Amino acid sequence: MSGSSCSSSCSSASSCASKESQQAQAAQQENAISRSLGKIKHKILVMSGKGGVGKSTVSVNLALALAKNGHRVGLMDVDIHGPDVVRMLNLQGTLQPPATPDGLIAPLQYNENVKVVSLEYMMKDRDEAIIWRGPLKMQAIRQFVGDMDWGELDYLVIDAPPGTGDEPLTVAQTIPLVKAVVVTTPQKVALADVRKSINFCKAVKMEIVGVVENMSGLICPHCGEVVEVFKSGGGESIAREFDLPFLGRIPMDPKVVMAGDDGLPYLSENADSPAAQAFANVVKAVELRLPPGKPSGPLPMAGCGCSCG
Ligand SMILES: Nc1ncnc2c1ncn2[C@@H]1O[C@H](COP(=O)(O)OP(=O)(O)OP(=O)(O)O)[C@@H](O)[C@H]1O
Ligand SMILES: [Mg+2]
Ligand SMILES: [Zn+2]
Repeated sequence: MSGSSCSSSCSSASSCASKESQQAQAAQQENAISRSLGKIKHKILVMSGKGGVGKSTVSVNLALALAKNGHRVGLMDVDIHGPDVVRMLNLQGTLQPPATPDGLIAPLQYNENVKVVSLEYMMKDRDEAIIWRGPLKMQAIRQFVGDMDWGELDYLVIDAPPGTGDEPLTVAQTIPLVKAVVVTTPQKVALADVRKSINFCKAVKMEIVGVVENMSGLICPHCGEVVEVFKSGGGESIAREFDLPFLGRIPMDPKVVMAGDDGLPYLSENADSPAAQAFANVVKAVELRLPPGKPSGPLPMAGCGCSCG
C-alpha cells in the first residue's frame, strides 16, 4: 500500500481524522475569537496577587460605572472557585442555547448597557454539551470570548481569581491587547503579592492600566470620616516603584459588604459617600487611560493616572 494520506487499512486512520477535525475546530474557534474581539475596543483584566482584596467588587462596579457613563460594557467572570459576579449583581436566569444562525450565545443582560457571562453558568449547565464542549477552564474562557454574542462593546471587564494561574494566563494568551488593572490593599503582605502580579504582566507582555488601592482606611459608620486602619499609600508607592499609574484609593465602607451580599452594587450607585466618590475617580482614571471612543492600542507613557493631565 502506498499513498500520502491515510487509507482504511491504516490502523491510525481514525485518530488522524479526529486530529484533523480537532485542528479544524481549533481554527474555527480562533476565527470566532478574533471576530468577537474585533468588536470590543478595550479589554480589562482585573487581577491581584492576593485573594479577597476586592477584585470582584472593583470589576462589577467598574463595569456598572462605565455603563452609567454611557459606554457599552461586557463583564466576564472567569473565577470558577468563587464566581461572585452573579451574586453581587443578583442575576437571575441562565444562558440559553444559541437562537441565531451564527450559533452565538447571548450573554445575560444586566441592564441596557451591561452584558454578563460567568463561569457559574458552566457549573450549572455542566450537561449542556452544546454550550460547554470542553471541561477545562481554559477552553471555557476561550468559549466565553468566541462563542458569546458580545456585539459591539467599548469595554470588556474580566474578573479573575487571585494569583497568576491558568485563568489570567489564558486571558493573556487569548485576548491580545488585554490590559490589567491591579488591585491591592495597603498592607505589606498584599504589596509583596502585587509585585508578583506586576512581574506576571511583564512576563506575558500585558500592559497595566494602573494600580488601585482598595480598603484604604475605614469609613466610620458613625461620623462618615475616613479612619486609617492600616498604613495607607502602599499601593501608590508600589505604583511609583514600577513606574505605573496609580488609579486611586478606595476606603473600606461597611455598606460595600452589605450591598455585595444583597446583589446591589454600592460603589457605582451612591455618589454621595466618600467610598463611591473615590471609586468614581478610579473610573475616571481608567476612562482617561482607555478612552472609550478610541480603539485599543499601546497605552501612553505612565503618568500620574489622575485627570489633571
Ligand atoms: N472598599 C470596600 N469596603 C468594604 N468592603 C469591601 C470593599 N471592597 C471589597 N469589600 C468586601 O470584601 C470582600 C472581598 O471582596 P471581593 O469579593 O470583591 O474580593 P476578591 O478580590 O474578588 O476576592 P477573591 O480573591 O476571593 O475573588 C467582600 O465581602 C466585599 O464586599
Ligand atoms: Mg473575586
Ligand atoms: Zn467617627
